[in-house]
Amino acid sequence: MSDIVSVRREGDVAVVTIDNPPVNALSLRMRQPLYAALEALGTDDGVKAIVIACAGATFVAGADITEFGTSKALERPNLPDLCTLLEDTAKPVVAAIHGTALGGGLELALACHFRVAVPSARLGLPEVKLGLLPGSGGTARLPRVVGPEKALKMIVSGNPIGAAEALKSELVDAIAEGDLVADAVKFAAAKAAEGKPLVRIRDRDEKLAPVRENTQGFEGLIAEVTRKARGLEAPIAAAAAVRNAIEMPFDAALKAERDSFIHLVQGDQSRAQRHLFFAEREATKVAGVGKDVQPRPVKRTGVIGAGTMGGGIAMSLANGGIPVTILEMTDEALERGLGTISKNYSVSVDRGSISAEERDARLGRINGTTDYADLADCDLVIEAVFEEMPIKKEVFGKLDAIAKPGAVLATNTSYLDVNEIAAATSRPADVIGMHFFSPANVMRLLEIVRGEKTAPDVIATALDAGRRMKKVPVVVGVCHGFVGNRMLSSRSAELESLLLEGATPEEIDKAFLDFGWPMGPFQMGDLAGLDIGWRTRKSLGKTAVIGDALCEMGRFGQKTGKGFYLYEDGSRKPKPDPEVNKLIEDKARELGVNRRTIPAEEIIERTLYPMVNEGAKILEEKIAQRPSDIDIVWTNGYGFPIGKGGPMFWADLEGLPKVVERLEHWHGKTGNDVFKPAASLKQLAATGGSFSARPA
Ligand code: COA
Repeated sequence: MSDIVSVRREGDVAVVTIDNPPVNALSLRMRQPLYAALEALGTDDGVKAIVIACAGATFVAGADITEFGTSKALERPNLPDLCTLLEDTAKPVVAAIHGTALGGGLELALACHFRVAVPSARLGLPEVKLGLLPGSGGTARLPRVVGPEKALKMIVSGNPIGAAEALKSELVDAIAEGDLVADAVKFAAAKAAEGKPLVRIRDRDEKLAPVRENTQGFEGLIAEVTRKARGLEAPIAAAAAVRNAIEMPFDAALKAERDSFIHLVQGDQSRAQRHLFFAEREATKVAGVGKDVQPRPVKRTGVIGAGTMGGGIAMSLANGGIPVTILEMTDEALERGLGTISKNYSVSVDRGSISAEERDARLGRINGTTDYADLADCDLVIEAVFEEMPIKKEVFGKLDAIAKPGAVLATNTSYLDVNEIAAATSRPADVIGMHFFSPANVMRLLEIVRGEKTAPDVIATALDAGRRMKKVPVVVGVCHGFVGNRMLSSRSAELESLLLEGATPEEIDKAFLDFGWPMGPFQMGDLAGLDIGWRTRKSLGKTAVIGDALCEMGRFGQKTGKGFYLYEDGSRKPKPDPEVNKLIEDKARELGVNRRTIPAEEIIERTLYPMVNEGAKILEEKIAQRPSDIDIVWTNGYGFPIGKGGPMFWADLEGLPKVVERLEHWHGKTGNDVFKPAASLKQLAATGGSFSARPA
């Protein structure tokens, strides 16, 4: 008995209760008493069956991630020891599952003879999201229970399934309709009374045999995993482990799985993904917004503008169960916007990602108006009109006149001064930036921009709304472009220089793809529309030799069939265009730039190191609260590869002295100030410091 693991008797059934808040993770201090309790109960003749249950919000939600990479994770008893002990117990052991049985928690449950769950329980093996694979039998046991194809999908996606689906696929044996522990005790007593031989999952083969005989479907799935892995090791290792479960004897598969886990847990990719797991949770802790600051209630919302952004924001709100009224200037624009939303939802129904009923429910939460007065009782209004200060000010002036007292007034501006927008109202404390990323209903990042006068409970309200929309909110300060777009612009000039100096758009894009980005910067530009950047540059009095020339030729990207690439017959597949290469060569000649072959390493250094440098300046100016917030912005809003943990974590992996040395090198060569190392970056490099708060 300990504080964390306690045992009580219900007749001749022993109930073992784990109480290790917040999520009953399998830390060493929990494993030790659990092992001791189970060992004692196994030899106690008065005990006929055992139930393992958890106190608090959830069943065991996994290994203790903070222990990974430390000696505690390796100390015995480890989770495989616990699983072996459970599986070999000569009396029925039943896992009683509520909340989430995840990772090591599900592995523990799979080593039990039976599983009983409440209807709201969720079960899964999310290790791949941490750059790992299940390391305590998950890949060997789950395929034996639910079949290899379903197991592969669950393990490689990391997504949990609900209790009903788990019952259907035999992952749970019964759903508890009443009190979970009481039902599990009844179930365990009945199994003990039956006295049938206990079947260990390790000895089951009935779902493996058919796939062993016909591997085509399974191998097809493995090929798909490999294709989609994009440089990540974990999904490929996980898929290989499931194949081992089919092909190898159980113990050999178990050993191979453990070896693979140990290899991955020591690697940079898993370190990076674990960093992001904690970073995402850390990002919601905002200075000056303590737990005592309550969000304002948000029951009704408004969105101003039914364009691409406004429509996507309205969908996000509706998806989060929040009713929304969209305001447009004309009936036609409103109809067009609502039509697009309706079409987008129908595409989701056709793809099977939501049901027709769900679509109707979401659409039912969206209505439209052309009259500002209809926004008068909204608790939160998000403006998504043109990125021009006079227009924004006019909109906020009108909002100020009609919005009810206490309503939160948010702007979706991607770079304008939120303080200036707030000053157009009589209530700057209620004004905040809520910067969504396109497509707003898909992208998870939400930059919340706190103005000089924004009230703490307004920040709390934006954070809460973000969570309800299932976004990843990060609070940032006011500056041109905030965190994301400011860092993005620090690399744009170098992209142009690299083109002029001899790299082709496809060479640069390939260097980015090889780095792990989903898309290169020129493919991205063509997708977003080159005219957007052109318009912004013009408003700022800036130029880009190649980008501007392409726009002057009417080459706006995919929407005009031509941009940095050629898109034939409405295809989205970029084809290199000799006309663009000639344009670049001509411009280089005009400017007297010598052309040469540029290695991929140089492309990465000259585009991504300036971003790290800008990130350091952003931290100096306190625009971002911590380096890991910047990593969350970049991995969730711009596709920075998760296996590298975001730009600041990646800089640590590169080594800060190297980053500073190369920045100084390029600063000397190009004179471009984006390379001039920030004082704080130099200081960190010189003192052996690092950006990552938790270099586990
Ligand atoms: N190990 C250590 N700490 C963990 C943890 C784990 N496996 N899972 C969660 N925590 C911590 C979080 O860091 C957070 O700490 P904080 O309050 O100091 O920020 C706290 O537990 C609560 O977690 P949070 O995610 O905020 O709560 P939630 O109720 O939204 O979600 C879970 C609960 C269990 C669904 C979610 O935490 C989760 O998915 N955990 C990871 C599960 C996993 O990957 N398991 C496999 C590990 S190999």
